Amino acid sequence: MADFTHVYDAPPPGANPDWTIPQSWEVFSADEHAMWDRLFARQSAMLPGRACDAFMRGIDVLKLEKPGIPDYRELNARLIAATGWQVMAVPGLVPDDVFFDHLANRRFPAGNFIRTPEQLDYLQEPDVFHDVFGHVPMLADPVFADYMVAYGQGGLRSLGFGALHKLARLYWYTVEFGLIEEPAGLRIYGAGIVSSYGESIFCLDDPSPNRIRFDLLRLMRTEYRIDDYQQNYFVIPSLEHLLKVTVETDFAPLYAQLESLPDIPIADILPEDDVITHGTQAYAHSKA
Ligand code: PHE
Ligand code: FE
Repeated sequence: MADFTHVYDAPPPGANPDWTIPQSWEVFSADEHAMWDRLFARQSAMLPGRACDAFMRGIDVLKLEKPGIPDYRELNARLIAATGWQVMAVPGLVPDDVFFDHLANRRFPAGNFIRTPEQLDYLQEPDVFHDVFGHVPMLADPVFADYMVAYGQGGLRSLGFGALHKLARLYWYTVEFGLIEEPAGLRIYGAGIVSSYGESIFCLDDPSPNRIRFDLLRLMRTEYRIDDYQQNYFVIPSLEHLLKVTVETDFAPLYAQLESLPDIPIADILPEDDVITHGTQAYAHSKA
C-alpha cells in the first residue's frame, strides 16, 4: 500500500540509491515463514468466489501456494515471464517520486518484513504479506500490469501539477480497495482488501458501505479513510475499462477542474451516482 504522506531525506544505510535492498530471503526465520503460511491459509480458503478471476489466476501462475515467504528469485522469474514486472525489496515506505519511478519501470517495491502475531489483523505499514500476496497476483495480469505502469507515469506527472493528493485517491479506490463486476457477481481486486480477512468479507457482504460504479472525476473528488474499513467502494466493469479510461484521459485539465470542485464527504451519495448499494453506514456509525 502506498502511503503518500511520509517524507524522507535519503535511503537508509545499506539501501541502494533507488531505496531497494537485497531481499536476503535466507535471513527470514521459521516463525516468519510460519506467519506467512498462516496468513496465506486463511486468505486463500476465503477468497474463491470473492477475489476476481485475474487475482485467482495470478496466485496460480506465480505458484504462490508454495509454503513460506516467497523467494523473489523464483517469484520474479515467473512474474517477468508473465508481464515483465518484478518485485524488489525495500525497507519500508519510500518517497512518492521513488515509488512512481519504480512502478513506471515495472518494479513493485515490497516491504521486507512480516507482521508479528499481535498485528495479525491490522498494521499500519505495508508488510511483505500485504505487498506480495495483496499486490503481486494482479501484476501477473497483462491489463492490470499496464495500468500500474501508467499509474507510475501519471504519478510522476502529477507531482508537476501539485495534484498528487487527488491522484492518490485513484490508487486508493482502485489498486488498494477496488471491486469489479464480473458475470458471476461483485469481486475483489484491491490489494488492501484481499490481504485483509475482515475487509474481504465486509466489502462484499455487509450492508454498511456504499458500492458505486466507477466514475473517474467523481472518484477523485471523494475522501477516504485509512484507519478502518472503507465507507465507499468503487466498482469497475472490467480491468480493460479502467486502463482505457485512465490512459485516454489527460489528467491535466481534470486536475484544474478538481481545484474548483468541492471534495465529496466520505459517505455521500450524489443524484448522478450509478449506485449498486446505497450503504446503511451502520458499521461506520457504530464506531463513531
Ligand atoms: N492519463 C493520465 C495523465 O494524463 C496518467 C494516468 C494513467 C494516471 C493511468 C493514472 C492511471 O496524467
Ligand atoms: Fe498496498
